[in-house]
Amino acid sequence: MEENKRKRMLSGIKPTGKLTLGNYIGAIKQFVSYQDEYDLLVFIADLHSLTLPIDPKELRENTKDLIAIYLACGLDPEKVILFKQSDVHEHAELGYIMACNSNMGELHRMTQFKDKTAKLGANDSIPTGIFIYPTLMAADILLYDADYVPVGVDQKQHVELTRDIAIRFNHFYGDTFKVPEPVLAKKGAKVYSLSDPSKKMSKSESDKGTIYLLEDLNITRKKIMSAVTDMENKVRFAPESQPGISNLLTIMSALTNEDVSSIAKRYENGGYGNFKKAVADVVVDELAKLQAKVKEIQNSGVVDEILAKGAEKASFLARKKLAKVYRKVGLR
Ligand code: TRP
Repeated sequence: MEENKRKRMLSGIKPTGKLTLGNYIGAIKQFVSYQDEYDLLVFIADLHSLTLPIDPKELRENTKDLIAIYLACGLDPEKVILFKQSDVHEHAELGYIMACNSNMGELHRMTQFKDKTAKLGANDSIPTGIFIYPTLMAADILLYDADYVPVGVDQKQHVELTRDIAIRFNHFYGDTFKVPEPVLAKKGAKVYSLSDPSKKMSKSESDKGTIYLLEDLNITRKKIMSAVTDMENKVRFAPESQPGISNLLTIMSALTNEDVSSIAKRYENGGYGNFKKAVADVVVDELAKLQAKVKEIQNSGVVDEILAKGAEKASFLARKKLAKVYRKVGLR
């Protein structure tokens, strides 16, 4: 009974690029906590990764690492339906129906489409996939009657479009889809680039400023030891005047749960080299544990089994919904 009252939440994670310490501290851990509050479906949005050119080998590797990292961070396949989008063919099929129930005008208004294609200009070679990206995303969401979709600001507009399509479809064909709500994703601390602390740490930033979760830890240590700081020579949490040092304090605080001011006090006059070494020790220690878990998960062979079970559960739901849609539109 309890279970039935839980709201359903759904999220897709796109396997483009490698996960960073910024993702780990800012997003992944908070995301995993949703599994205790909601009836949660999580899928690897691998079809979405094809919307812009990607090397097949890279896609395969990213997917494999991504799943293992989420599992290592505590995503529990007993609580969550975890699957790969491309394993459940209803996504692509409902995606087509969604494309037939949206229009060029609303897709042209999507800011992500505008941003991603701005560099290309008005150009006949813009991939069609990036244009219809939101229609596939609408299918992802509407297939499962999701109540909530946690998103960053960049994806909120896509969920709003999903609502529009669902409302229009329901109006035209009769009640078919639950109208989902976007929820702003829970956030952890914001981590900045080590080489340019005015920018977010991200996979598109310079490699010197970004720590990748699965990278060689000798390199991690070097990146932290050469992080950009300042001339004050005092360890203090002062994001405006000492963004580099403050960023290191944020990182250490997020990983140890000690607050920034008490860490700062301990290292205040000990010199930057000394402080950086302490930060590096904490980060390397945390990532070493994470990497060991990821390896263990990858070597155990459980991932394929988890994904097969997840796909089976997701297919059960998706099949029913797609059959209903096919009836409504007159295909059955
Ligand atoms: N578009 C999302 C992103 O870029 C990924 C995604 C695909 C998604 N389908 C989804 C997120 C459905 C939430 C719900 O991050």
